[in-house]
Amino acid sequence: MTNEIKAGDTDATHILAADHRAVEELFERFESSKDKNKKAEIAMRICNELKIHAQVEEEIFYPALKGQIDEDLLKEAYVEHDGAKVLINDIVAAGADDEFFEAKVTVLSEEIKHHVKEEEKQQGNMFQQARAAGVDLEALGEQILARKRELQALADEGQLPPAKLATLAAS
Ligand SMILES: [Fe+2]
Ligand SMILES: [Fe+2]
Repeated sequence: MTNEIKAGDTDATHILAADHRAVEELFERFESSKDKNKKAEIAMRICNELKIHAQVEEEIFYPALKGQIDEDLLKEAYVEHDGAKVLINDIVAAGADDEFFEAKVTVLSEEIKHHVKEEEKQQGNMFQQARAAGVDLEALGEQILARKRELQALADEGQLPPAKLATLAAS
């Protein structure tokens, strides 16, 4: 499995798919790890990666697809992100001592698997639709890379705030 994209490849769908592969690999490592501290560390990495990924999709990628692809698919993607964000924020806040910690990470991985299928794996997926609609994927990819760098810098300093919900009322 490779998470790497070729140097100079700024196609947004390649960048986002590489993120998906990286997170899938982290979920596999989480599942196979027996060490509690290691699991906690991997879970925090997963949460940061997914927060950054969802944020760049919602700030840059999804808005560029509005009116260009199936509206229901796009709306469901926002709601699926919010469902994942509720779990992510909870996992970060409650930590590895929570009795439901492993269950929450497992359910998160299942939600993400479903979401990634709709973005890039199933027939007529979001990425295919974006390409077919002639969306400028290179221009979007450059913006995504720049924004990812900013958010990663925040994450590296431990300053990444909890994920904000876009469609669900926070309770
Ligand atoms: Fe994605
Ligand atoms: Fe997404």
